[in-house]
Amino acid sequence: MTVLFADVVHSMDIARRLGAERLREIMAELVDCASSVVQRYSGTVDKFTGDGVMAVFGAPVALEDHAVRACLAALGIQEAVQAVAAVAQDRDGVDLQLRVGLNSGQVIAGEIGSGAVGYTAIGEHVGMAQRMEAVAPPGGVMLSASTVRLVEVAATLGEPELVHIKGSDDPVPARRLLGIGHSAATRAESSLVGRRWEMSAIEGLLDRAIDGQGAVVGISGPAGIGKSRLTRELAAMAANRGVQVCTTFCESHTSQVPFHVVKRLFRAATGVEGLDTESARAVVASQPREVDSEDQVLFEDLLGIADPDVALPQIDPDARRRRLTAFVNAATLATQTPAVFVIEDVHWIDEFSESLLADFLSVVPQAPLLTVITSRPEYRGALAQVAGAQTFALAPLSNSETAALVAELLGPDPSIGALGQTIIERAAGTPFFAEEIVLELAERGVLQGDSGSYVTTTEAADVAVPATLQATIASRIDRLDSKAKRTLGAAAVIGSRFGADLLTALGVEPAVDDLLAAQLIDQVTFTRAPEFVFHQPLIRTVAYETQLKSDRADLHRSVATAIEQRSGTAADENAALIAEHVEAAGDLAAAFDWHMRAGVWSNNRDVAAARLSWERACRVADALPDNHRERTALRIAPRTLLCGTDWRAHADESGIRFEELRELCAQAGDQTSLAVGMTSRVGWHAQCGQVREARRLASESLALLDSIGDPSLTAQAGFSAIGIKAILGEMDEVMRWSQATVEWAKGDPTKGNLIVGSPLAVASAMRGLARTWFGHTGWREDLDDAVTFAEQTREPLVLAMVLSWKYGMGLWNRTLHPDDAAIRTIESALQTVEASGDDYAVVMVRNLLACVLLIRSGEGDRDRGLELMTQTRDVAVQQQYLGSELSNFEVYFGLEKARGGDRDGAIPMLRKAVDDMTARGQVGYYIPAVGALVETLLDRRTDGDVAEAEAAIARLDSAPAEGSAIRDIWLLRMRALVARACSDYAGYRDYRDRYREMATSLGFEGHMKWAGDMP
Ligand SMILES: Nc1ncnc2c1ncn2[C@@H]1O[C@H](COP(=O)(O)OP(=O)(O)OP(=O)(O)O)[C@@H](O)[C@H]1O
Ligand SMILES: [Mg+2]
Repeated sequence: MTVLFADVVHSMDIARRLGAERLREIMAELVDCASSVVQRYSGTVDKFTGDGVMAVFGAPVALEDHAVRACLAALGIQEAVQAVAAVAQDRDGVDLQLRVGLNSGQVIAGEIGSGAVGYTAIGEHVGMAQRMEAVAPPGGVMLSASTVRLVEVAATLGEPELVHIKGSDDPVPARRLLGIGHSAATRAESSLVGRRWEMSAIEGLLDRAIDGQGAVVGISGPAGIGKSRLTRELAAMAANRGVQVCTTFCESHTSQVPFHVVKRLFRAATGVEGLDTESARAVVASQPREVDSEDQVLFEDLLGIADPDVALPQIDPDARRRRLTAFVNAATLATQTPAVFVIEDVHWIDEFSESLLADFLSVVPQAPLLTVITSRPEYRGALAQVAGAQTFALAPLSNSETAALVAELLGPDPSIGALGQTIIERAAGTPFFAEEIVLELAERGVLQGDSGSYVTTTEAADVAVPATLQATIASRIDRLDSKAKRTLGAAAVIGSRFGADLLTALGVEPAVDDLLAAQLIDQVTFTRAPEFVFHQPLIRTVAYETQLKSDRADLHRSVATAIEQRSGTAADENAALIAEHVEAAGDLAAAFDWHMRAGVWSNNRDVAAARLSWERACRVADALPDNHRERTALRIAPRTLLCGTDWRAHADESGIRFEELRELCAQAGDQTSLAVGMTSRVGWHAQCGQVREARRLASESLALLDSIGDPSLTAQAGFSAIGIKAILGEMDEVMRWSQATVEWAKGDPTKGNLIVGSPLAVASAMRGLARTWFGHTGWREDLDDAVTFAEQTREPLVLAMVLSWKYGMGLWNRTLHPDDAAIRTIESALQTVEASGDDYAVVMVRNLLACVLLIRSGEGDRDRGLELMTQTRDVAVQQQYLGSELSNFEVYFGLEKARGGDRDGAIPMLRKAVDDMTARGQVGYYIPAVGALVETLLDRRTDGDVAEAEAAIARLDSAPAEGSAIRDIWLLRMRALVARACSDYAGYRDYRDRYREMATSLGFEGHMKWAGDMP
């Protein structure tokens, strides 16, 4: 922001000489003419001081070149005042002069999207501008050091001076403004033709937004049709109403860089661009709303301004996105100040920004926010289908509209009449095409003179006009001298916006003057390191594509190096962008490294983004030449990470990538990578209920880990195979692995969290299960420890798994009985996982709560439990979660049916569950299912039921479950029930007493309760 302060010299004397009345008249004239100058340069007259004027540039409308504009206005005011002064000299005989002072400073924007300037924060800058005014010579303009810095390239300045100002003992530096050049900075825009309907509709939407009812506007149409032009017209309308406009654009080369566009948009909206990270955080923190500190950290990380010493919250990527959206949405809804957001060229948006923005757009109608999205017609993504959006598909201009445009461009000279017609026909309603043809003809010398007043000596029939817009641009570029051409080519590689300093860093001498003169680029900042933009995206595309491939590759390589050097310690944050450039340079090996680095950086934030980088790394590695020394190893590394995270991302359903990994590992003899990749595959089969496949792979995985013999790898990569073994009742293996892993972890719950958040938590739970199975002491402590470790790591998935093993299995086997503490633990875990947003974890914990409610079967519990379990079963079936546990659901539902009196309906369900589990060999689940069937049969006791129960018991007795205390205790109970059903009371009492004793000695609470209830 730049503050301009103008004041009349010796105003007191003048007042004395002329009287207050006449002075007021003169002042009114002065203010009028100053105001119109200020408006011409998009400033705002902020207030009339008694005898002067104060104006602000760059607030509330963010203008990048506020300082330059303020300088232009200051000189303009001095010039305009001369007319008023001449009259005053004539009429009143007084010498009227103004002093003007300028000072620039940072504005602290209030809230996201508001652009609300805390006007009090400006006070300091105003003070300095006023002091500059006081030391300016009459008729002159004085700049403070901060303004000098912003304009010195563009401006002509007096010698540096040290001036004494009020309120400071030490002199401060200042310089006089003598002149400033600007006319070549931006292409003069021809008047808008047509689009009247669109403009008035958009104006209506803007006014509604200002009244608090926002809207999303889509503008689509082919290149050069006038989408950006419409947004500029809108921006001017908004500026006239004092509304901040915040523009972001997407670019073809960043469409694969995750979060690139939202990062830019919100950096612009919060006003942190250009600030160091600490001040940027202060700006973000100055929001008037109460915000969660974790959300704040997530948002700062998105903007790339996070404090490196503050750890990122450990949450699931879905949750990260959801919380970021919620944060931004809440901030938007809290906004009172109207604003316009423009997101240009979303056909190039990255998918992560796209999904975040799609959510964001849903709240726009409730905020004073007009959001405009432009795209070419090929774009079909989420942002093209926003519910309730107003969409304008721009048609070509009509012939008469094109004619009006061409007439303005060419001018009225009769010599060009026929040529005009040729241009109108060729341009076919695309205004940009018309403009480019005119420039091309002028550069070729067919048109002579200046824009708007050309003449020609060539017959229209003899003039060849390029056939397409692209060809026109290409021939204009072709006509540049080699330096300018090289500058333009290098700039095209950098991006839509580029700085002279980066060009220099690429070894390109920036020849921007020719490019500005040819109106191929526009200048946007006028600092010591000026910045430019391509006048139009198509110019960049053509400039990019018409270069020699080898030149382009060299430039990409240099850009990558420059970005890396400039990022300093933050290179990882830019790794995805650097990877794009390196890959475009054709340096596959280096591109591979950068994609992998980008993956590691994203993995803590969004596993889907990380996986995108790993996918790219796979493709790059695959493209390496066959004779590349490390090709196989490089092809393996990203595949291992992808396969290792498949289970979290629910990906690679076909298993194709895993098969590739297997083959590559076989070629390279890389067993470790294979073992890591296999983990997910095992878990995935289990989730889908493919128990046999899971079993085969689990055995292979454990054998592989054994043969590698690395305890650390076994601890980290063995967990999913061991989970399968537990389901199958192969508890010796479970015991062996969990014992070894608990010892390896040495009490550190986060040790080795490569694939699963806490191997120690998992191993403790598994040992608890194995000890339960064998009836060894210490099972309860193990399970309790497991929960404590899981809670410490705060990893939702680990917490859900461990709780499922403790309570899910404990209730199923009746080793635990649900008390209030259990309910509390599970309910609090449910809150944790729901907040984390990991859907898989949520289903697990909801299901757990359902089990507890059903087993407690208290007042109201059962209905709630049944409803909850029905929901989770449906989700599990839909999402292929908990596939191997679907039969367990049937047992719970069967028991509920029986309890409601419908034994005939229940028994077939229970029978089927038992048969399914038997067929799959799920010995670890099977026992209580048999118990449920037997008990229901004995309750019904029609023909053959007792015999069927006895047969089921016999089968269980001979099932492969050596040494299982679980089986033994269930068998005792079942046999007691059979004896009673057969009126064998002596037998019944014997089994019942042994059952009671065993339950009590093992401390199996559920069985103790049952045994106690037996008559
Ligand atoms: N209605 C119009 N009247 C006068 N000039 C126009 C009009 N529409 C567009 N132009 C001019 O045509 C040129 C190209 O327009 P613009 O950049 O808006 O195209 P675009 O649709 O955004 O293309 P792209 O998809 O490549 O971004 C600009 O110089 C613009 O000023
Ligand atoms: Mg455009």
